[in-house]
Amino acid sequence: MLGDVTSPAAAEYLSSVLPAYRAKNGVDLCTVNAENGGFILGPTPDTAKLLLGAGADVLTGGNHTLQSYSLLGAIDEMAAVLRPANYPAAAPGCGSVIVRTASGVRVLVMSLLGRVHMEPPLASPFETADAVLERHRGRYDLALVDFHAEATGEKLALGHYLDGRVTAVVGTHTHVPTADLTILPKGTGYVTDLGMCGPRGSILGIDPEDVLTRYLTAVNHKFHPAEGKMKAEGVLLETEGGRVIFAERVTL
Ligand SMILES: [Fe+2]
Repeated sequence: MLGDVTSPAAAEYLSSVLPAYRAKNGVDLCTVNAENGGFILGPTPDTAKLLLGAGADVLTGGNHTLQSYSLLGAIDEMAAVLRPANYPAAAPGCGSVIVRTASGVRVLVMSLLGRVHMEPPLASPFETADAVLERHRGRYDLALVDFHAEATGEKLALGHYLDGRVTAVVGTHTHVPTADLTILPKGTGYVTDLGMCGPRGSILGIDPEDVLTRYLTAVNHKFHPAEGKMKAEGVLLETEGGRVIFAERVTL
Protein backbone atom coordinates (compact mmCIF):
# COMPACT_ATOMS: atom_id res chain seq x y z
CA MET A 1 0.00 0.00 0.00
CA LEU A 2 1.62 3.23 -1.20
CA GLY A 3 1.10 6.84 -0.19
CA ASP A 4 -0.05 9.92 -2.05
CA VAL A 5 1.28 10.38 -5.59
CA THR A 6 1.98 14.11 -5.70
CA SER A 7 2.04 14.90 -9.45
CA PRO A 8 2.02 13.40 -12.95
CA ALA A 9 5.85 13.26 -12.78
CA ALA A 10 5.62 11.34 -9.51
CA ALA A 11 3.17 8.95 -11.17
CA GLU A 12 5.70 8.40 -13.96
CA TYR A 13 8.43 7.72 -11.42
CA LEU A 14 6.30 5.24 -9.51
CA SER A 15 5.34 3.55 -12.76
CA SER A 16 9.03 3.12 -13.58
CA VAL A 17 9.91 1.33 -10.32
CA LEU A 18 6.72 -0.48 -9.29
CA PRO A 19 6.75 -3.40 -11.76
CA ALA A 20 10.23 -4.55 -10.66
CA TYR A 21 9.37 -4.13 -6.96
CA ARG A 22 6.18 -6.15 -7.37
CA ALA A 23 7.97 -8.94 -9.17
CA LYS A 24 10.91 -9.08 -6.75
CA ASN A 25 8.72 -9.19 -3.64
CA GLY A 26 5.90 -11.35 -4.97
CA VAL A 27 3.29 -8.68 -4.32
CA ASP A 28 -0.25 -9.99 -4.90
CA LEU A 29 -2.01 -6.66 -4.70
CA CYS A 30 -0.98 -3.03 -4.66
CA THR A 31 -2.96 0.06 -3.70
CA VAL A 32 -1.75 3.58 -4.47
CA ASN A 33 -3.28 6.79 -3.16
CA ALA A 34 -3.64 8.96 -6.28
CA GLU A 35 -5.71 11.86 -4.97
CA ASN A 36 -2.96 14.35 -5.84
CA GLY A 37 -2.02 12.61 -9.10
CA GLY A 38 -2.89 15.72 -11.11
CA PHE A 39 -0.68 17.84 -8.77
CA ILE A 40 -2.82 18.77 -5.78
CA LEU A 41 -5.95 17.89 -7.76
CA GLY A 42 -7.02 14.34 -8.49
CA PRO A 43 -5.46 12.41 -11.36
CA THR A 44 -6.45 12.79 -14.98
CA PRO A 45 -7.82 9.59 -16.52
CA ASP A 46 -4.48 9.19 -18.35
CA THR A 47 -2.46 9.42 -15.12
CA ALA A 48 -4.81 6.94 -13.47
CA LYS A 49 -4.41 4.55 -16.40
CA LEU A 50 -0.62 4.92 -16.25
CA LEU A 51 -0.57 3.82 -12.59
CA LEU A 52 -3.05 1.00 -13.14
CA GLY A 53 -1.00 -0.22 -16.08
CA ALA A 54 2.22 -0.18 -14.06
CA GLY A 55 1.07 -2.44 -11.24
CA ALA A 56 -1.38 -0.52 -9.07
CA ASP A 57 -4.53 -2.62 -8.67
CA VAL A 58 -6.58 0.08 -6.97
CA LEU A 59 -6.15 3.86 -6.73
CA THR A 60 -7.49 5.17 -3.45
CA GLY A 61 -8.89 8.66 -3.03
CA GLY A 62 -9.09 11.72 -0.86
CA ASN A 63 -10.25 15.28 -0.57
CA HIS A 64 -8.84 16.26 -4.00
CA THR A 65 -9.92 13.24 -6.10
CA LEU A 66 -13.11 14.77 -7.43
CA GLN A 67 -11.44 18.14 -8.07
CA SER A 68 -10.01 16.63 -11.26
CA TYR A 69 -12.64 17.76 -13.76
CA SER A 70 -11.43 15.37 -16.44
CA LEU A 71 -11.78 12.48 -13.98
CA LEU A 72 -15.34 13.45 -13.04
CA GLY A 73 -16.65 12.31 -16.40
CA ALA A 74 -14.60 9.10 -16.41
CA ILE A 75 -14.55 7.79 -12.84
CA ASP A 76 -17.83 5.91 -13.16
CA GLU A 77 -16.19 3.81 -15.89
CA MET A 78 -13.04 3.19 -13.80
CA ALA A 79 -14.00 0.79 -11.02
CA ALA A 80 -10.43 0.63 -9.68
CA VAL A 81 -10.29 4.41 -9.14
CA LEU A 82 -11.92 5.21 -5.81
CA ARG A 83 -13.17 8.39 -4.19
CA PRO A 84 -13.92 8.35 -0.45
CA ALA A 85 -16.89 6.10 0.35
CA ASN A 86 -18.40 8.64 2.75
CA TYR A 87 -19.24 11.09 -0.06
CA PRO A 88 -22.95 11.48 -0.78
CA ALA A 89 -24.29 8.63 -2.92
CA ALA A 90 -25.02 11.15 -5.67
CA ALA A 91 -21.31 11.98 -6.12
CA PRO A 92 -19.56 10.42 -9.13
CA GLY A 93 -17.49 7.30 -8.54
CA CYS A 94 -17.49 4.68 -5.83
CA GLY A 95 -15.72 4.33 -2.50
CA SER A 96 -14.98 0.62 -2.51
CA VAL A 97 -14.16 -2.19 -4.90
CA ILE A 98 -13.47 -5.91 -4.69
CA VAL A 99 -10.51 -7.13 -6.74
CA ARG A 100 -9.36 -10.70 -7.19
CA THR A 101 -5.64 -11.38 -6.96
CA ALA A 102 -3.81 -13.75 -9.30
CA SER A 103 -3.99 -16.37 -6.53
CA GLY A 104 -7.77 -15.99 -6.31
CA VAL A 105 -8.06 -13.97 -3.09
CA ARG A 106 -10.94 -11.50 -3.10
CA VAL A 107 -9.77 -8.19 -1.62
CA LEU A 108 -12.15 -5.41 -0.64
CA VAL A 109 -10.43 -2.02 -0.84
CA MET A 110 -12.20 0.90 0.80
CA SER A 111 -11.38 4.61 0.70
CA LEU A 112 -12.59 6.94 3.47
CA LEU A 113 -12.13 10.63 4.27
CA GLY A 114 -11.62 12.03 7.76
CA ARG A 115 -13.73 14.78 9.28
CA VAL A 116 -11.25 16.53 11.62
CA HIS A 117 -9.74 19.60 9.88
CA MET A 118 -10.88 18.21 6.51
CA GLU A 119 -13.03 19.42 3.63
CA PRO A 120 -15.57 18.68 2.30
CA PRO A 121 -17.67 17.73 5.34
CA LEU A 122 -18.81 14.15 4.76
CA ALA A 123 -20.69 11.37 6.55
CA SER A 124 -19.07 9.56 9.47
CA PRO A 125 -16.17 7.40 8.26
CA PHE A 126 -16.91 5.00 11.14
CA GLU A 127 -20.54 4.43 10.15
CA THR A 128 -19.62 4.36 6.47
CA ALA A 129 -16.99 1.67 7.09
CA ASP A 130 -19.63 -0.42 8.89
CA ALA A 131 -22.07 0.04 6.01
CA VAL A 132 -19.52 -0.88 3.32
CA LEU A 133 -18.39 -4.01 5.19
CA GLU A 134 -22.02 -5.04 5.68
CA ARG A 135 -22.90 -4.39 2.03
CA HIS A 136 -20.06 -6.63 0.80
CA ARG A 137 -20.32 -9.25 3.56
CA GLY A 138 -19.53 -12.76 2.28
CA ARG A 139 -18.05 -11.46 -0.98
CA TYR A 140 -14.45 -10.78 0.12
CA ASP A 141 -11.60 -12.56 1.91
CA LEU A 142 -9.54 -9.53 2.98
CA ALA A 143 -10.41 -5.87 3.50
CA LEU A 144 -7.98 -2.95 3.19
CA VAL A 145 -8.90 0.58 4.26
CA ASP A 146 -7.15 3.78 3.13
CA PHE A 147 -8.20 6.48 5.61
CA HIS A 148 -7.35 9.86 4.12
CA ALA A 149 -7.31 12.17 7.11
CA GLU A 150 -5.42 14.99 8.80
CA ALA A 151 -5.68 14.17 12.49
CA THR A 152 -3.55 11.37 13.93
CA GLY A 153 -6.13 10.75 16.67
CA GLU A 154 -8.95 10.25 14.18
CA LYS A 155 -6.81 7.80 12.19
CA LEU A 156 -5.87 5.81 15.30
CA ALA A 157 -9.51 5.78 16.36
CA LEU A 158 -10.62 4.24 13.06
CA GLY A 159 -7.78 1.72 13.28
CA HIS A 160 -8.96 0.54 16.69
CA TYR A 161 -12.62 0.70 15.62
CA LEU A 162 -11.94 -1.70 12.74
CA ASP A 163 -9.32 -3.85 14.52
CA GLY A 164 -10.12 -7.49 13.90
CA ARG A 165 -12.73 -6.66 11.27
CA VAL A 166 -10.45 -5.60 8.42
CA THR A 167 -6.94 -6.65 7.42
CA ALA A 168 -5.36 -3.20 7.42
CA VAL A 169 -6.12 0.45 8.06
CA VAL A 170 -3.54 2.81 6.58
CA GLY A 171 -3.57 6.58 6.77
CA THR A 172 -2.81 8.96 3.92
CA HIS A 173 -3.01 12.73 3.23
CA THR A 174 -0.20 14.23 5.33
CA HIS A 175 2.49 12.94 2.91
CA VAL A 176 4.79 12.38 5.90
CA PRO A 177 5.53 8.72 6.79
CA THR A 178 4.89 7.91 10.42
CA ALA A 179 6.96 5.51 12.54
CA ASP A 180 4.02 3.68 14.13
CA LEU A 181 3.51 0.76 11.74
CA THR A 182 2.07 -1.98 13.93
CA ILE A 183 -0.28 -4.92 14.18
CA LEU A 184 -3.18 -3.96 16.45
CA PRO A 185 -4.29 -6.40 19.22
CA LYS A 186 -6.89 -8.20 17.06
CA GLY A 187 -4.62 -8.54 14.03
CA THR A 188 -5.27 -5.48 11.89
CA GLY A 189 -2.21 -3.86 10.33
CA TYR A 190 -2.08 -0.15 11.04
CA VAL A 191 -0.01 2.93 10.21
CA THR A 192 -1.01 6.56 10.72
CA ASP A 193 0.47 7.73 7.40
CA LEU A 194 2.06 5.89 4.50
CA GLY A 195 4.03 8.92 3.30
CA MET A 196 4.15 9.98 -0.34
CA CYS A 197 5.30 9.14 -3.83
CA GLY A 198 6.94 12.40 -4.85
CA PRO A 199 10.07 14.56 -4.91
CA ARG A 200 12.45 14.08 -1.98
CA GLY A 201 13.49 17.71 -1.60
CA SER A 202 9.96 19.09 -1.48
CA ILE A 203 7.37 20.25 1.01
CA LEU A 204 4.68 17.58 0.57
CA GLY A 205 5.52 17.44 -3.15
CA ILE A 206 5.51 21.21 -3.68
CA ASP A 207 8.52 23.42 -4.50
CA PRO A 208 9.74 24.69 -1.09
CA GLU A 209 10.19 28.23 -2.48
CA ASP A 210 6.47 28.41 -3.29
CA VAL A 211 5.44 27.19 0.14
CA LEU A 212 7.83 29.55 1.91
CA THR A 213 6.52 32.47 -0.12
CA ARG A 214 3.02 31.72 1.07
CA TYR A 215 4.13 31.55 4.69
CA LEU A 216 6.22 34.71 4.44
CA THR A 217 3.66 36.83 2.57
CA ALA A 218 0.30 35.28 3.53
CA VAL A 219 -0.56 35.49 -0.18
CA ASN A 220 -1.74 32.44 -2.12
CA HIS A 221 1.01 32.44 -4.76
CA LYS A 222 0.81 29.64 -7.31
CA PHE A 223 2.27 26.28 -6.31
CA HIS A 224 4.52 24.24 -8.62
CA PRO A 225 5.71 20.65 -8.22
CA ALA A 226 9.22 20.36 -6.82
CA GLU A 227 11.86 18.88 -9.08
CA GLY A 228 14.68 16.45 -8.38
CA LYS A 229 14.98 12.90 -7.13
CA MET A 230 11.79 11.03 -6.35
CA LYS A 231 10.81 8.48 -3.72
CA ALA A 232 7.79 6.27 -3.19
CA GLU A 233 6.78 5.37 0.36
CA GLY A 234 4.37 2.87 1.81
CA VAL A 235 4.10 -0.46 3.58
CA LEU A 236 4.44 -4.09 2.61
CA LEU A 237 1.97 -6.39 4.36
CA GLU A 238 1.95 -10.16 4.52
CA THR A 239 -1.31 -11.79 5.53
CA GLU A 240 -2.60 -15.16 6.62
CA GLY A 241 -6.24 -15.97 7.21
CA GLY A 242 -7.22 -12.34 6.81
CA ARG A 243 -4.79 -11.12 9.49
CA VAL A 244 -1.47 -9.32 9.05
CA ILE A 245 1.42 -11.52 10.14
CA PHE A 246 4.26 -9.31 8.91
CA ALA A 247 4.51 -5.61 8.10
CA GLU A 248 7.41 -3.45 7.04
CA ARG A 249 8.01 0.06 5.80
CA VAL A 250 8.93 0.41 2.15
CA THR A 251 10.74 3.20 0.30
CA LEU A 252 11.27 2.83 -3.42
FE1 LIG B 1 -5.30 14.93 0.76
